[in-house]
Amino acid sequence: MSNLSVNYMGLPLRSPVIVASSGLTTQMDRVKEFEEAGAGAIVVKSLFEEQIVNEAEFLSTQSHEYPESSDYLHYYIRQYSVDRYLTLIKDIKAIVSAPVIASINCYSKGSWTSFAREIERAGADGLELNIYSLPLDIHKRADETEREYIDIVTEIVKNITIPVSVKIGSTFTNLPGFIEMLKGHGAKGVVLFNRFYTPDVDIARMNVTSADAFSHEQDYLAGMRWIGIVSALVPGIDLSASTGIHNGTIALKQLLSGASTVQMCTALYKKGAVAIKNALDDITLFMDKNGYGSIADFKGSLNYSNFGNPGKFERVQFMKSFGGK
Ligand SMILES: Cc1cc2nc3c(=O)[nH]c(=O)nc-3n(C[C@H](O)[C@H](O)[C@H](O)COP(=O)(O)O)c2cc1C
Repeated sequence: MSNLSVNYMGLPLRSPVIVASSGLTTQMDRVKEFEEAGAGAIVVKSLFEEQIVNEAEFLSTQSHEYPESSDYLHYYIRQYSVDRYLTLIKDIKAIVSAPVIASINCYSKGSWTSFAREIERAGADGLELNIYSLPLDIHKRADETEREYIDIVTEIVKNITIPVSVKIGSTFTNLPGFIEMLKGHGAKGVVLFNRFYTPDVDIARMNVTSADAFSHEQDYLAGMRWIGIVSALVPGIDLSASTGIHNGTIALKQLLSGASTVQMCTALYKKGAVAIKNALDDITLFMDKNGYGSIADFKGSLNYSNFGNPGKFERVQFMKSFGGK
């Protein structure tokens, strides 16, 4: 019988398929279904930095009549958002035995970092930091932006004992070097990659609209190259594949490339909990067929250092592969 258990950021998981952070995790019946289908962990929907900071600032500017109430309002709004979030963590913890990973969506180190302690006290087993802000300052250097990520991680890691992962986008000048820095400042995991809200253009209505929030199967490819490379160049930090994990075959490709876990979101919205069960059945079938007793037996076996031809990972220009076409 294949053993699907894995270790992710020091947390023992019964399977490598994780429920990604999204609104689905606010519905207790869905969360229960995900666990019953075999999910290894649940990442709770994000608490947003702006949700707390902006909401509080907005409301305080509305209360000119009673300026002295502004401090209380700040406290109340902050507390209310936090309390709701902490209750969500406790509710999920009460119905599942799989580890529960809280999530904070943030872009700067600020007063919000103290929430991390409350999240830990609420029973979260880990914390995923979804860090991103669109760089719009043409005078800001890339290393200044990277420093902001490092500062957030340093501040959070100082405050809590549960493991911290960082969910990032793909646009870094030197991704392996950056992940090495995250590791050096205490991150235990990295989620590659987040999928962002993307604008689109409607040429009939001459309007800017929003692109599909959901991923397509081919979207797993961008993350997989980097999982293959980073798992070889930066050992000692766990990688979780996110975006385009629609089925067991894609999950297996990511594990073979060196991912410790894979995260599903779109597949769960579109197919429900059965997507987790089907993926785990496919992984089990693959392991039985190839004689693997555990995920560790094949994890990373096709990554940058284990696959015989690293050039396959390094090739980026079509010219070299399709020069004759
Ligand atoms: C409706 C929806 C809500 C999401 N909410 C969050 C969130 O609160 N926090 C977060 O880090 N990612 C959030 N995501 C991103 C997902 O966790 C995931 O990284 C992304 O959708 C890519 O995975 P997929 O291809 O399986 O959909 C959300 C995605 C969707 C589609």
